[in-house]
Amino acid sequence: MRQIAERASVSIGTVSHVVNGTAPVRPKLRERVLEVIRNLGFQPSALAQGLRTNRTRMIGMIIPDITNPFFPGLVRGAEDVAFKHSYRVILCNTDNDPAKESLYFNELRSYRAAGLLIIPAAGSDIASSLKPGTAGIPPVVCIDRRPDGWTGDSVVVANELGAYRATQHLIQSGHRHIAVITGPSLLANSVERLKGFRKALKEANLPLPAEFVQEAVFDTRSGFQAARRLLRMLPRPTAIFACNDLMALGVLHAIHELDLRCPEEISLVGFDDLEFCEYTSPALTSVYQPSYQLGATAANLLLERIKGRKGSPKRLVLDTELKLRNSVLPLEHSSWSVSRMPRTARKSPRKVAAAR
Ligand code: RIB
Repeated sequence: MRQIAERASVSIGTVSHVVNGTAPVRPKLRERVLEVIRNLGFQPSALAQGLRTNRTRMIGMIIPDITNPFFPGLVRGAEDVAFKHSYRVILCNTDNDPAKESLYFNELRSYRAAGLLIIPAAGSDIASSLKPGTAGIPPVVCIDRRPDGWTGDSVVVANELGAYRATQHLIQSGHRHIAVITGPSLLANSVERLKGFRKALKEANLPLPAEFVQEAVFDTRSGFQAARRLLRMLPRPTAIFACNDLMALGVLHAIHELDLRCPEEISLVGFDDLEFCEYTSPALTSVYQPSYQLGATAANLLLERIKGRKGSPKRLVLDTELKLRNSVLPLEHSSWSVSRMPRTARKSPRKVAAAR
């Protein structure tokens, strides 16, 4: 930096402000410094800076799995906010494994991450290993899922209300035999969605046989398997609420495999409103979650904490919205009579032609 300052005929402070963006520098001076930096091929060492200040501009983001299409939008929201404030996001996937989560957590601490954004794994023990405000622990904001006992900052959606509205929609469409496929019972958002589902049924005085509640793990395969169990029951449900879209996709696959029709024989609602909902056949009715906004809001909250903002922990709750598409049919338009027709008559014209 001294060398740059000498060559550009400015103070070391000015060089530091240009390099670190810590204060505005007159454009002419700034360009002179940058010119020297370019000529010297100078690359500031973030490591050295971190060692000197015991701080970095790195935000660790620990999530279950970036290949799950719900998470990229959320990560993007967080990254865009962080980037705007000159912070960089480092991404870690836990595969929903609490042990991997702790490992990443400790490593990010040792790299002196300025703060952490965490979407906790099912069964996460970060609440017990992480007492907010403890020395040596950077600010942490939990997103999407609040682990048991978590008393720190969090940004989630109104899971219970979203599930309640989705179930109400099925009830208002005339369905009386409604089943649910839940996510892991160790996840708060999954428990809340089931609560909303139960609440709507209870208010409508509808029974919920125990076998109509099937637990799965928020992925397509487990949704498919749970749907197979449900669709083979007699009487089978006329509608299914899947607590996320990947499981709903698995349900659609099971419906087709068992030669049933959605929505004529089985209505279906998902949760997340992933992009593919518009492209499935039929297009899937789903509860929209503002995933980008979840990430962006959490990053803003984290940056406030990094900058030293005190105050009691915040629990921000974003709203959801039911997106109506074609996977729910009012029961009077579907039919019991359909399920009594001979099988060939029930098939779509294309399938009947193929069968002939
Ligand atoms: O598909 C991922 C699911 O797990 C979403 O519903 C989201 O809320 C997450 O917790």
